[in-house]
Amino acid sequence: MNSQSPIGLFDSGLGGLSIWKELHALLPNEQTIYLADNKNAPYGEKSKDEIISFSIKNTEYLITKGCKIIVVACNTATTNAIKILRENYDVPFIGIEPAIKPAALQSKTHKIGVLATKGTLSSELFISTSNQFRDSKDFVEVVGTGLVQLIEEGRINETEELLRNYLAPMIKADVDNIVLGCSHYPFLIPIIKKIIPEHINIIDSGIAVAKQTKNILEQNGLLLAQPKITENYFYTNANLLLLTQFLTQNEVKTNKVFFEEF
Ligand code: SIN
Repeated sequence: MNSQSPIGLFDSGLGGLSIWKELHALLPNEQTIYLADNKNAPYGEKSKDEIISFSIKNTEYLITKGCKIIVVACNTATTNAIKILRENYDVPFIGIEPAIKPAALQSKTHKIGVLATKGTLSSELFISTSNQFRDSKDFVEVVGTGLVQLIEEGRINETEELLRNYLAPMIKADVDNIVLGCSHYPFLIPIIKKIIPEHINIIDSGIAVAKQTKNILEQNGLLLAQPKITENYFYTNANLLLLTQFLTQNEVKTNKVFFEEF
């Protein structure tokens, strides 16, 4: 692998496309390969062992495609599996962790909402990160049951009622920052904004992940030096039509979308 090699990203499904968009905006000349493991989505309710095994399978697939870096564009996979991936593969990994630190630094009410999957909220990484701030901050953690499925099925418009239920305890507790701890949730921001008061800040990690990817590529001498004509490849192991529709709806200008077993 070298600077001409692609950047690999994987997610349980379509949510990681929120990260892909930020990455592509920052590094438009880099070639990317995106894996949507739709067959096994959602990861959020799976056991840690299952999440690790899906993450290994996705990683090995991206390595066979020659990727120079792998972005784990899924909070549940990051919080449960990135340590093991880093221990077992030489390629650099970028993870997406719930943005607890920026939320804690910005909060004036000292109350922070976190919307994430069960897998993320129960992970050691999330617990140890949030524990660093529990002396001075209160966290209102809510599992977003059902949201990922609706997003995966292209039914974003049907999430409002669930979101009203999940956000109500956060609003009641006077949070001033809400962390979106799942890469699927940025697609819900327009609906979330309709529900929460204007002063509440929504924090997602997409831009930070894109910047971190650029830094690590630079540090490893892997950043593409010269612009070249690139193609971005999107793979799904389940529903090609849904992936294609989702990309179109979200104005992702794609080059190639494939169905493949992985
Ligand atoms: C899921 O697959 O349940 C959610 C993915 C994520 O945590 O980002």
